[in-house]
Amino acid sequence: MKMNDKPSGSRLPGFYNLSFDKRWELLRKANLISQDDIGRITGADSLTVDQADHMIENVIGTFPLPLGIALNFVVNGRELLVPMVVEEPSVIAGASFMAKLARASGGFKAETSEPEMIGQIQVLDIPDLNLAQEKLLAEKQNLISIAAGIDPVLEKIGGGPRDIEVRKIESSPIGSFLVVHLIYDVRDAMGANAVNTAVEKISPYIETISGGRAHLRILSNLADRRIAKAYCTIRLEDLAFSDYKAEQVRDGIIESWAFAASDPYRAATHNKGIMNGVDAVVIATGNDWRAVEAGAHAFAARGGIYTSLSTWGKDDSGNLIGSLEMPLAVGIVGGATRVHPGARASIKLMGITSARELAEVIVSVGLAQNLAALRALATEGIQRGHMGLHARQVAISAGAEGSFIERLAEKMVLEGTIRIDRAQELLEEWGYLPSEE
Ligand code: MEV
Repeated sequence: MKMNDKPSGSRLPGFYNLSFDKRWELLRKANLISQDDIGRITGADSLTVDQADHMIENVIGTFPLPLGIALNFVVNGRELLVPMVVEEPSVIAGASFMAKLARASGGFKAETSEPEMIGQIQVLDIPDLNLAQEKLLAEKQNLISIAAGIDPVLEKIGGGPRDIEVRKIESSPIGSFLVVHLIYDVRDAMGANAVNTAVEKISPYIETISGGRAHLRILSNLADRRIAKAYCTIRLEDLAFSDYKAEQVRDGIIESWAFAASDPYRAATHNKGIMNGVDAVVIATGNDWRAVEAGAHAFAARGGIYTSLSTWGKDDSGNLIGSLEMPLAVGIVGGATRVHPGARASIKLMGITSARELAEVIVSVGLAQNLAALRALATEGIQRGHMGLHARQVAISAGAEGSFIERLAEKMVLEGTIRIDRAQELLEEWGYLPSEE
């Protein structure tokens, strides 16, 4: 390992080139992970089948995925190592490299709204929608007090119901109806349980007041009152690489973003790249990635046309500036975030103390990930960076082990043929015998 620079904060120069054991030696020496959490992160003391059996039904095992750390992140002035669980090569390397570029201008700035979720109640069979809407709004304070009684613990820490909204759906396949929104501050929880309990609790009152029938009672994953935003500046001079000039890279990134901003086919892929980073941290911290995905894509279509979640442009000095805004319903208490030992260790590793802080880190990783993809796409293309890691996976599939993985991968990249049949052929030529299972 080349360790000219000393590791500090989230900078661990040379980490990528270390072996697994050496990486751990470094983390231990630098005291970056507590002794108790080592096994939780390596997997040795992570989720047991017994714990899993209490989480879902019909458990017959657990399913490991790679967990890596993204380096170089500075979010709101704080250095942190970001755990990411992801099966796709290049994601962690991409995020880490972009975080390195961003830290030259102070890293990522991020902010979040209050952690307010929306619970929905569909009210059917109402004779007079306008009248029912008026009556429900007149009873707003009573409804809020009823919902508030459900969770005294949440109330005590400053959460609880905040507001009632009543929306009219004028035309649907079954005609018109009302939708009541209960706005609920869930503090450090993801909030699904609190919100679902609350909407079920107030539904009978809604029926009495409106004269209608409360049908669905469930939270909305379009959590557009629980928004996270990240911003970054990349100095113009840091954008140049190989034969690419800084202006060319910057303008290429802006042109790529403009494509996503104006075409849903491109926007879907562009946003998928953002979610590569977002989901990886959401999963590492035991949060509900389907909820986050649903919220992100619904938010991307909020204007009626599906578009980019991020924006890219340049400032007065010609630097590249980016931002990302999306709903992020993530928590640090309750559910898998507490039960899964690896998730708890991940939250601890980042030194996260609130759900809002977690969302601020996640949205920053999403922005870094988006930049990594656009920078590659706007210059040499995505395949080049992918090749080395892809070749390693092919080498492993062909049966290579230990140092042969790297040797075989390098040879295939050099030849420009990364295929399992070629990998097997090379192993045979080298007289390689894999160890027996
Ligand atoms: C691949 O997982 C993600 C990208 O397709 C994102 C993008 O196109 O912006 C590279």
